[in-house]
Amino acid sequence: MSRLDVFIDRMVSQRASLDFAIAETAGLTGPVFELGLGNGRTFDHVRERVQGREIYVFERAIASNPASTPEPEFTILGDVMETLPQALDRFGPTASLIHADLGGHNLQKNDIFARKISPLIEPMLAAGGLMVSSDRMYFDTLTELPLAPSAVEGRCFIYRR
Ligand SMILES: C[S@@+](CC[C@H](N)C(=O)[O-])C[C@H]1O[C@@H](n2cnc3c(N)ncnc32)[C@H](O)[C@@H]1O
Repeated sequence: MSRLDVFIDRMVSQRASLDFAIAETAGLTGPVFELGLGNGRTFDHVRERVQGREIYVFERAIASNPASTPEPEFTILGDVMETLPQALDRFGPTASLIHADLGGHNLQKNDIFARKISPLIEPMLAAGGLMVSSDRMYFDTLTELPLAPSAVEGRCFIYRR
């Protein structure tokens, strides 16, 4: 499998998982958290489809396409190791949907980081809230869900409180 194949699988899986998670959580009113803005493609997808919920973006350095850049009041700048605990103090356990795409090319580093941020993300979800991640997460109290039919195993993960 080429890197192009892996990339395409990741994109297809992200879209399928986000569409599933947005629909599943449509009845919740709590905020949506996008962890890792990057180019802003998934942020753009989420904001096109989410109705009536605030979307906050966590990113350490904004470098997105100007067409996919969140408003400053919805941008939480800094390292998520610091900004996630601050957001828990600010919002409490209210997030209806959290999408994390924080990883780079080094899968081992991504896994180590996923283990570090899992306990920071876990308490932020509201009851019934979903978490979509490009990396396997390590939660004690959330349940991993089967992927949407067009998503590819191992390229995306979905968890529910
Ligand atoms: C793969 S990109 C996200 C791509 C995005 N989903 C898109 O569709 O364009 C990962 C982003 O996560 C950010 N990031 C990685 N580690 C971070 C950290 N510890 N705190 C805040 N942002 C981080 C990086 O700066 C990068 O912009």
